[in-house]
Amino acid sequence: MLPRVILHIAMSLDGRITNFPADLELYYFLAATWNPDAILFGSETVLAAVRDNPALEVPPEHEEMFTPPEGVKDTRPLLVIADSRGRVRCWDAIRRWPYMRDLVAFCSSSTPEEYLSYLEGRKIAAIVAGTDRIDMRKALEMLNELYGVETVRIDSGGTLNSVLLKAGVVDEVSVLIHPFLAGGRAGPTMFDPVKAGFADLQIPLTHTKTEMVGDGLIWARYSVKG
Ligand SMILES: NC(=O)c1ccc[n+]([C@@H]2O[C@H](COP(=O)([O-])OP(=O)(O)OC[C@H]3O[C@@H](n4cnc5c(N)ncnc54)[C@H](OP(=O)(O)O)[C@@H]3O)[C@@H](O)[C@H]2O)c1
Repeated sequence: MLPRVILHIAMSLDGRITNFPADLELYYFLAATWNPDAILFGSETVLAAVRDNPALEVPPEHEEMFTPPEGVKDTRPLLVIADSRGRVRCWDAIRRWPYMRDLVAFCSSSTPEEYLSYLEGRKIAAIVAGTDRIDMRKALEMLNELYGVETVRIDSGGTLNSVLLKAGVVDEVSVLIHPFLAGGRAGPTMFDPVKAGFADLQIPLTHTKTEMVGDGLIWARYSVKG
């Protein structure tokens, strides 16, 4: 079974998803309303976070950090990173994030063996789906089968968002619009089918709800038609 999939994006009024002071406290507060069992990141999003936040830099690696938490039922979401090319090498730092119960990698048959061994050495489960790139539909179905994940929130830019929309697995698009004109470069955007390799992709949406939240932000929600 496919889990319910929600894209949740913080955006400036002029459509930028970076280069503006996003209200992260509100963003994550609203994100919790779906009570997701898993949060899926694109590899580029993780690498951008590491670039922007030196605290995420790879620390010295210690064996005890690779041991998944044990004991009582842990209701925190899984953190999943799509990374078929084996570019994310800071899993040990990510494991320290307090709001995730465990880590899973989405890979494909083209993922280098060396990277799969690297993950195994750190006790990070890999879901392998797809030949060249990750087959997102299959990977999400496996996430449901193997981990009982019923709701996934996507924390990603326009590339992975487009891949998921193309695969027809997205249920809801949620946009938190900030009263801010960010300017600068147009990219990255919340929807970038050209970068994802589907230049002609267009997605009709149905508006479901709009609320004013926080200090003049607009929280607009849409379901994906069909
Ligand atoms: N404002 C917000 O709410 C928000 C939220 C998240 C991120 N961001 C920003 O968005 C930017 C990153 O966005 P991005 O669009 O560059 O990257 P992205 O969406 O984070 O990452 C690209 C992901 O798409 C996968 N992918 C690409 N083409 C694919 C295909 N054909 N089939 C399957 N998977 C495919 C890649 O997988 P492989 O690794 O396997 O190639 C990778 O995991 C960052 O600057 C970040 O700060 C903003």
